[in-house]
Amino acid sequence: MTIEPVRARAFEDNLKHYSQIFTDGSADYAIQRNAQSDPAKLRQLSSFFFWTSWASATNRPNNTISYTSNFPSEPLVGNVPTSSAIVWTGVSVIMLLAGIGWMVWYYAQKGEGEIVSTEVPQSDPLIGAKMSPSQKATVKYFLVVTLLFLLQIVMGMLTAHYGVEGKGFYGIPLADYLPYVVTRTWHTQLGIFWIATAWLAAGLFIAPFICGYEPKYQKLGVDALFVALLVVVLGSMGGQWMSVMHRLPGNSWFWFGHQGYEYVDLGRVWQAGLFVGLLLWLFLIARTAIPALKQKGAARSLIVLYFLSTTGIALFYSPGLFWGMRSHISVVEYWRWWVVHLWVEGYFEVFATVVIAFLFAKLGVIRGESAAQAALLSGAIYLTGGIIGTLHHLYFAGTPTVALAFGSVFSALEIVPLLLVGHEAVANIRRSKARPWLKQYKWIVYFFVAVAFWNLVGAGIFGFMINPPIALYYMQGLNTTAVHAHGALYGVYGTLGLGLLLFCLRAMKPEIVWKDRTIWFAFWAINIGLMLEIVLSLLPVGLMQTYRSVSVGYWSARSPEFLQTDLMQTLRWLRMIGDSIFALGALAFVYFALGLIWRRPEKKARVAARAAAEAA
Ligand code: HEM
Ligand SMILES: [Fe+2]
Repeated sequence: MTIEPVRARAFEDNLKHYSQIFTDGSADYAIQRNAQSDPAKLRQLSSFFFWTSWASATNRPNNTISYTSNFPSEPLVGNVPTSSAIVWTGVSVIMLLAGIGWMVWYYAQKGEGEIVSTEVPQSDPLIGAKMSPSQKATVKYFLVVTLLFLLQIVMGMLTAHYGVEGKGFYGIPLADYLPYVVTRTWHTQLGIFWIATAWLAAGLFIAPFICGYEPKYQKLGVDALFVALLVVVLGSMGGQWMSVMHRLPGNSWFWFGHQGYEYVDLGRVWQAGLFVGLLLWLFLIARTAIPALKQKGAARSLIVLYFLSTTGIALFYSPGLFWGMRSHISVVEYWRWWVVHLWVEGYFEVFATVVIAFLFAKLGVIRGESAAQAALLSGAIYLTGGIIGTLHHLYFAGTPTVALAFGSVFSALEIVPLLLVGHEAVANIRRSKARPWLKQYKWIVYFFVAVAFWNLVGAGIFGFMINPPIALYYMQGLNTTAVHAHGALYGVYGTLGLGLLLFCLRAMKPEIVWKDRTIWFAFWAINIGLMLEIVLSLLPVGLMQTYRSVSVGYWSARSPEFLQTDLMQTLRWLRMIGDSIFALGALAFVYFALGLIWRRPEKKARVAARAAAEAA
């Protein structure tokens, strides 16, 4: 590529600028000293920056839009929204309205349907039930969940703190040992790890319920998977730290260190290890689900759905292995979203719906077949929108404009079932009141209701807020993304993970009478804390950034000059309120969960349980 002399001069100036920032560090950008000080690599880094700006401002051959579809907004170089961005925004909104209309119509003609089974048992069917060895072996997973959850919160607080005090922690030069890049990577990755651990454990816990017996060596499999998970979690975190601190020689950063792509940052070796772990998990579930399908009278459709969603979760991690160290960034982004998006907006949604239905069916509160029908409908809708909807992450990633059209329209359909989850939430509350013994499940049901709430708010509303092409054109990568990411990833799947943990620990010791006050506090503090974090801080910052991005330019919305103004600093400090309430709630939750793990039921309850078991 030949560039004009004026650009060459600009390049050299930028090289100087970036060399200084990455060598001396910068509190404004929370970049640590010597983040990169090798002159050859600094030149490569600046060349990459140059290339990205070139690709965003240069028109495609025989076309009037740039490679990035004119993203980011910058009128000085002619980067204004493309016609497709405007037109498909309109079409996607209309699709959403059409979808909602159709769903409301569908529910109206279907009538109320069965919400609660007429044959709910008189007493808790789990009392007196014996847990199998593999089920008991899942306890250690839940212990790890609580530890990783707390560690994630600590990393989140540090990361947020670096946003206001770039280099340190109340004067301590923490960034020298634990730079922003590391705390941020660990924060997002730990979220995935603890949620995945809770889900894997719940899947394994449910497995013997599905086929009704303990398959041979199942406990061995559960224990082996646990060790594998620990190796991946600790190995990948250690590798990332070493990578950022320049302790890994040559190309080993790619294999053991930090790949640099959010949510799939872990080194390739750990990534492959995680995939193998997921396959082992699938195998352990398959050996209970497949025989169950041959049994008469089993809730077959529910089991089929359950098995399909676990297969989806396991197999759809593999696209994360489809790129190499030197792949083109557009190619990497394409496969990366196969993992991130297809997981969260596809198979996770289906798994969540099915697993909750399965637990209610296990308690005898709903009939398996009608639960399966409802789950099948919502699963089909999630996947219809969700699979092609992946393209909403690729509007500006160097794709043909058809990505923008398909991505915006199909992802709008994803919102439809999310806007109607209130239906499911109300049904769950009614179910929890069907018999007095269900009072013991009140808090588990509340966690499931919170899953529905955040599906509506975090995924549905805040997801759609940034979803139309014209919105994302101005908003991509602002705090509005954090609004959606916290509301959806923690709100929906984190809450589900905690709810599943509670269910499994309850099923292990159904005789324990729960200490209502602790879990009451944990539930409300976590949810109110999350809401405050969004409403008091992330959302106002994000919306002000959006306004800035539209009125001045995208660069300005992310510039330190704008983010360091007094008002912005105050808004970012306000995050502390929500964060602290959330953290207190999390502490209470962990305290409560540890109590469930270690407490033994009172003697009276044990005797009563034994009597109930003998009577049954
Ligand atoms: C529970 C389901 C969902 C979860 C867990 C989730 C999670 C996330 C996360 C963590 C990100 C941040 C990615 C990053 O920082 O690079 C993200 C981005 C995004 N999500 Fe979702 N999401 C969900 C549902 C949805 C829905 C239903 C929509 C809209 C149809 C949506 C639209 C988007 C868009 C457009 C982005 C890109 C934002 C950007 O690049 O700035 N999400 N999502
Ligand atoms: Fe997505």
